[in-house]
Amino acid sequence: MIYPVVEIKLNQIIDNVLKVKKNCEENGVKLTLVTKVLVDHEEIVRPLVENGIDCICESRIRNLISYKDIPAEKWVIREPALCEIEDIVRYSDLSLNSERVTIQALNDEAARQGKVHQILLMYEAGDLREGAGFEELRELYAFALSLPNIKVRGIGTNYSCYGCTIPTVASLNELIGVAEKLEKEFGTKIELISGGNSTTYPLMREGKLPERINTLRIGEGALMGTMVSYGDAIGELYHDNFILKAQIVELKTKPSVPWGEFTNFDSFGTVPHFEDKGLRTRALLNVGKQDVILDALTPLDDKLVIMGASSDYMLIDVTDSDTDYKVGDVISFSLNYAGVLGVMNSACIGKEIIRG
Ligand SMILES: Cc1ncc(COP(=O)(O)O)c(C=O)c1O
Repeated sequence: MIYPVVEIKLNQIIDNVLKVKKNCEENGVKLTLVTKVLVDHEEIVRPLVENGIDCICESRIRNLISYKDIPAEKWVIREPALCEIEDIVRYSDLSLNSERVTIQALNDEAARQGKVHQILLMYEAGDLREGAGFEELRELYAFALSLPNIKVRGIGTNYSCYGCTIPTVASLNELIGVAEKLEKEFGTKIELISGGNSTTYPLMREGKLPERINTLRIGEGALMGTMVSYGDAIGELYHDNFILKAQIVELKTKPSVPWGEFTNFDSFGTVPHFEDKGLRTRALLNVGKQDVILDALTPLDDKLVIMGASSDYMLIDVTDSDTDYKVGDVISFSLNYAGVLGVMNSACIGKEIIRG
């Protein structure tokens, strides 16, 4: 085995996703699964679809291109950049939008490709990332209805990303109110009302989701069983689906405070702090800040302490461990959402899919 590697427990991921799907269905909600932590791993996404997932959401069109032969509905859940319109129309069925110029460009490209591109209009409900306020959304809706190669499939909003907002019954009812005002004014029926991401899931589980919220775009909650913005986990799901493993390349006992003459900054420009703990036994691992964010990692051996890292090495204090580590041994870490995103996107970290 070559290290570092991320171990991906496929059966546990499938189990999680199917539980989330079932719970969504019991609440009248369509699960649109956000696969972005799986990057472009067709061999992980395909089994999810074979097990019943019928809609996959990605933020990067590059990843959706790798899924082009997977038979599922495909959404781009990042607002399209004007430079990628051709691929968005070619490789996705629907994208999230809040800009007139982009919707026009999608329409024109869809006409060129002989297609109808679907859109979800994004409403700004307070998280202050993507989305338009009501008046602008109303104008966008009228505009989109006039375009022959655009179909407005629904409206949506997003929480818990930039502004740390929480989806509440009041906020979701506001979103429904927007849909109903549009329906009344334009004499239409809005098919989908997409009420957020993983952080809306607990509200749904408590049976408090307003009835017209009929889709949720869920990624982390299903694939990892966690909700990083609540600092919480979903009880009935697996939480250890991604484990990072790196190998010890040096193991020595050294003082805990450096000596010599000093600069003010380390190799990443930060000011380090050293506490004198005397001599400590430290393992150097073959993974570094170039591959992973340190704060995203927790050693599975809870007596290990992450001391720091440079671009290519991580330093672990192994002094208090019950394990007698040697050069060549492997140290394993659980990862939070940011950690999984980082390691899955790193070309220097192997991917080992565990099927058993
Ligand atoms: C627009 C949008 N919807 C849904 C999601 C999924 O979020 P989560 O992984 O927290 O469920 C994201 C983030 O990836 C997103 O940007």
